[in-house]
Amino acid sequence: MKKENIKPKKNEIKILLLGDTGVGKTSIFKRYLENKYEGNKTATVGVDFSTRDFKYKNENYIIQVFDTAGQERFKGITKSYFHMSEYYFVVFDLTNKNSLDAIPSWLELLKEEKENPKYIILGNKDDLKNKQISEDEINNVLENLDNININGEKFLRVSAKNGNNIENAFKYMIDVFNNDNNENKGENNNAKLTKSNLQKKNSNAKCCK
Ligand code: GTP
Repeated sequence: MKKENIKPKKNEIKILLLGDTGVGKTSIFKRYLENKYEGNKTATVGVDFSTRDFKYKNENYIIQVFDTAGQERFKGITKSYFHMSEYYFVVFDLTNKNSLDAIPSWLELLKEEKENPKYIILGNKDDLKNKQISEDEINNVLENLDNININGEKFLRVSAKNGNNIENAFKYMIDVFNNDNNENKGENNNAKLTKSNLQKKNSNAKCCK
């Protein structure tokens, strides 16, 4: 059964990370919240969350991030937290084809809990340049998904290890949040923001530079 949303405060954004075990969700979480990277591998058990005050385009935001467990045996617990959030990063490992192939089933699980979730797909471990799965393989899996595009791309390459694009991913999500709020206030009635014109908006706005 789909659960009621918990209404967030003004400028409070709840973002949940999901995806297979080992793709780097905890590492992205730590990079964003504490700007650090710990190379060791301890699987998340249950769910962790933390907040960061974040200034972007002269506005203050409270970003609450949920890090979930990717292991199969914790899927029930992970799923039970999906309703806590409005926005999602669906993460795969750019060096692990299985983690890419798992994205559609993660989305099925998410959509059992949440109607029309807003989600951005992140390909993590972009620093491992010589081990990456091909662009064609990625596009084959992602082409029919209803995710938020980033400047015309179906996913964003990030690296929790060197920090590449981690803050940008959160800034893009804030843009999505602001567009949703403007729509709700009726400011965007004539030009309803679809996923494809969000990407135009993002490229015009030079998000995250
Ligand atoms: P679960 O908690 O089991 O769901 O895994 P997770 O998705 O949280 O993965 P985690 O952050 O624990 O990372 C798994 C492994 O990948 C660890 O050994 C990390 O050090 C490594 N890792 C994470 N991010 C990166 C990255 O950007 N680059 C590289 N090279 N390794 C990474």
